[in-house]
Amino acid sequence: MATEAQDGTLTVTDNRTGTTYEFPITDGTIRATELRNIKVSDDDFGLMTYDPAFMNTVSCRSAITYLDGDNGVLRYRGYPIEQLAAKSTFLEVAWLLIHGELPTTAELASFTEDIVGRMPVDPSIAASIGAFHQDAHPMGVVEAGFGQLSTLYPEAKDVDSDPERMDALYNTIAKIPTIGALAFRHNQGLDGVAPDPVLGYSTNILKMFFGSDYEPDPRLVRALEILLILHADHEQNCSTSTVRVVGSSRVDPYSAVGAGVAALYGPLHGGANEAVLVMLREIGSKDNVPAFVEKVKNREALLMGFGHRVYKNYDPRATIIKKACDDVFEVTGVNPLLEIAVELERTALNDEFFVRRKLYPNVDFYSGLIYEALGIPSDMFTVMFAVGRAPGWVAQWLEMINDNEQKISRPRQVYVGADERDYVEIESR
Ligand SMILES: CC(C)(COP(=O)(O)OP(=O)(O)OC[C@H]1O[C@@H](n2cnc3c(N)ncnc32)[C@H](O)[C@@H]1OP(=O)(O)O)[C@@H](O)C(=O)NCCC(=O)NCCS
Repeated sequence: MATEAQDGTLTVTDNRTGTTYEFPITDGTIRATELRNIKVSDDDFGLMTYDPAFMNTVSCRSAITYLDGDNGVLRYRGYPIEQLAAKSTFLEVAWLLIHGELPTTAELASFTEDIVGRMPVDPSIAASIGAFHQDAHPMGVVEAGFGQLSTLYPEAKDVDSDPERMDALYNTIAKIPTIGALAFRHNQGLDGVAPDPVLGYSTNILKMFFGSDYEPDPRLVRALEILLILHADHEQNCSTSTVRVVGSSRVDPYSAVGAGVAALYGPLHGGANEAVLVMLREIGSKDNVPAFVEKVKNREALLMGFGHRVYKNYDPRATIIKKACDDVFEVTGVNPLLEIAVELERTALNDEFFVRRKLYPNVDFYSGLIYEALGIPSDMFTVMFAVGRAPGWVAQWLEMINDNEQKISRPRQVYVGADERDYVEIESR
């Protein structure tokens, strides 16, 4: 969190010209465009910053999520993640992220009813999903589903209309699990299960997956709610930044979220929990952990579920998930992979390679084990992540669209290609 003590000015001397410049420091940042004043001549474009992975670039001002990676702190709208995971429902957190305050009893009741009532999708979506190959990865299907939602709700293109925006944002949260469940059922060769308006959001998710006769243990429903809460937002991560960047073109929010889904599909982002289970299965037994850790240290493998761009400490979400594992395994019996995971964590946290690089378990290290215990197959894990992240994406989209400073996102480049050259006729090449 930026403090006033961080404010002041920055004096820079350009050694090329000897000119000195003074820039204001606000919230611990300088405006990158200020650097454009640093020129060697009048026709010089001005200095720019080079930051290919946005390692040190602030892209927006946000009041949604506070993350202190060095100290392992995560708060939504000021509320610690630990308190929200212990006390909130997922939809309560969704409301909080979008509206900025915790809902009253009446607000939460009507929001929950509204969202659950929006969970059914247009029959054309089920028909499209039916046209995918039976082994289609469900994330690809969800990605396509958002393209289709954008065509079903063309009024969402009016991004300046408050009612249209809210409709699209609420539909996103409501329909993403339904599309995911249809993709899951399609993989199993089964028909879709319609959501039941009298049931809760997460109970509906499990019933849409496993059938209307499935009666989930309330402890499993709560574990799912916790997982969704922990994933609900994580400030300017890759998929959220994608939603903001794509949304800055003023495309409808369904399309912007579809782009976020695509970003989340990548193995370094949402795909990591699936990769963790693959890794644990490959390791096979607790006895093989030391050999695997050696492979990681020799850079022949990555320790999936470890390390984070921002957390250089234990990911607070991993602590909560580890505890949720115990509650779930009480119902389902212990997954033998848990033993390998615990041993892997213990070994890594005591190994100088990981300690020196500040590599700790992240949210994905244990979440896959819970999903597996819930009966959700590994290629659905990223879809579950997307369901959880949907409120964050839409809250961040709303903040972006309301931000007067936000123009279309358009980075600069350093051109390193060929100088001007004449076209060569094809027969002369
Ligand atoms: C998350 C991740 C992409 C962050 O990457 P990053 O911020 O670019 O961090 P870097 O790749 O610069 O890592 C710093 C150092 O730690 C090492 N490192 C980072 N994550 C590692 C991992 N999971 N296993 C082994 N080594 C790792 C890097 O090789 C690098 O070592 P070096 O400085 O000797 O070259 C990366 O930690 C990773 O790939 N983790 C595994 C995938 C994962 O769990 N993703 C989910 C994130 S929620």
